[in-house]
Amino acid sequence: MNGLILSGSVLATGAAATGALFWRYRIRRRGRYSNLAALRPGFLEQRPAGFRIDAQQDQARDAFRQDLITRVDDALAPETFSLARTEASAAAPHVERSYVPAHKQGGTISYESMHELAPTCLAIYHSPVLRDWLSEVIGDKVVPTADYDQSSCSLLVYDRAGDHIGWHYDHNFYRGRHFTVLISLINRSAAGELSASLLQQQRSDGSERTFDTSENTLVLFEGARVRHRATAIAEGDLRTILSMTYSTDPRTGPIKELARRVKDMAFFGLRALWD
Ligand SMILES: [Fe+2]
Repeated sequence: MNGLILSGSVLATGAAATGALFWRYRIRRRGRYSNLAALRPGFLEQRPAGFRIDAQQDQARDAFRQDLITRVDDALAPETFSLARTEASAAAPHVERSYVPAHKQGGTISYESMHELAPTCLAIYHSPVLRDWLSEVIGDKVVPTADYDQSSCSLLVYDRAGDHIGWHYDHNFYRGRHFTVLISLINRSAAGELSASLLQQQRSDGSERTFDTSENTLVLFEGARVRHRATAIAEGDLRTILSMTYSTDPRTGPIKELARRVKDMAFFGLRALWD
């Protein structure tokens, strides 16, 4: 009996200590996210992102309202594209690799890491010009998603033969509708042509549609309603995409937040559960 009481109290003490450590860790992480948010106005001031999307707004809006997916060419101004591309190349050694059997493999630079490795890309994500343009095309005001969501703004890096992601919908973890914006920064084969990876949509009748993702194209879609995939790259290919998420209401609840963290394990491993 005494042994049982002792075991119970050891377990309770262990659980309380673990809980306290976890809570302390969470508070530290929250402080980290606040610090990153405080740095951001500096990024925007030093590196104002330039775009060439204005003239393509009407065409993009018409296509999006019809299919919930649209694309534009030459989205970034040359200087911004060049800076973002250079950041994407330099960030390659810091990629976190992930592998989900029969579904995906590839590398990712998380939102948190982007603050150190890709400030121009962050300036693109937080640009009021892009936000207003997207809001107009979508027909509803959108804003960036949460600081602690490592997929809010990330680099998706395919640099090993076979890197890809299979057919899927993007689950929506927010109260409002949420949208994915992809800007192709690097997309080339060893011979200097396009990589073998294709961004495809599967329509409700089962037919497939391929979207040109040449460098500096922008694709906007509502991932929760558009089934999509990126096919595999070939040996010697390199494909780096700036992936950004916006929502009409980025608030979330505890169940959706937990679900988002479980999903992010496919990109960032176990740390996505508590970071
Ligand atoms: Fe997706």
